[in-house]
Amino acid sequence: MIQMEGVSRVFGRAPNEVKAIVDLNMSIQTGEYVAIMGPSGSGKSTLLNLVGCLDRPSSGRYLLEDREISSLDDTQLSRVRNEVLGFVFQQFHLLPRLNALKNVMLPLIYAPQYPPHASEKAGALLSAVGLGAKLSARPGELSGGQQQRVAIARALINEPSVILADEPTGNLDKESGKEILDIFEKLNQDGRTVIIVTHDPEVADRARRKIVLEDGMLLSDIPIGRTQGGQA
Ligand SMILES: Nc1ncnc2c1ncn2[C@@H]1O[C@H](COP(=O)(O)OP(=O)(O)OP(=O)(O)O)[C@@H](O)[C@H]1O
Ligand SMILES: [Mg+2]
Repeated sequence: MIQMEGVSRVFGRAPNEVKAIVDLNMSIQTGEYVAIMGPSGSGKSTLLNLVGCLDRPSSGRYLLEDREISSLDDTQLSRVRNEVLGFVFQQFHLLPRLNALKNVMLPLIYAPQYPPHASEKAGALLSAVGLGAKLSARPGELSGGQQQRVAIARALINEPSVILADEPTGNLDKESGKEILDIFEKLNQDGRTVIIVTHDPEVADRARRKIVLEDGMLLSDIPIGRTQGGQA
């Protein structure tokens, strides 16, 4: 469902150009749980932004659910983004003046029409991430882990089939990070495709497949076994 063929992303112009992603071939099937690793500057965020249609390849083909992304105009691209993809970032990017419920409802503003029962749906998502008692709390009144859970609920409001997360546990203590990973695991068990960028080998080990980048190229791409001799 996610297919990249010879994708490159070059920033700037020669002779000062930066080749962030170089001739990358990669495909990810529906329902996979993938960790993207690699040193700082290896192109992880660039790749995630390409997968998430926040950015376009400089060259190569990107097919998302059989749609050729490079052929879409900006309006079509943002529709795909809204319908298919949910984003979670290291900085939670919540609006400080809005309470948790309103933050979760925010992506619905961009829908063609405001769906019925929007606030009930947002409330249910917050309950599902363990924040049923915090609907009216503003971000400043929540812990980091709680804020990230609000951000996850927000990413889910349009029922995306793909969840993309860039260092989602990077700003969290170990325990909160574990809670966030439990949620991603549950989402994946429910059939969603989950792609996480991380520096942390422990975070990556909870995925089912590990892709390692180096200098914008694929260094390795391997399945992760759960237990010794278990499913790989
Ligand atoms: N908008 C941009 N303009 C110019 N260069 C960029 C831009 N975005 C990224 N780069 C460059 O592309 C390369 C890859 O950057 P990217 O952010 O994808 O790395 P990363 O693997 O996510 O690193 P980190 O682990 O530090 O987040 C780096 O050399 C970076 O400087
Ligand atoms: Mg990055």
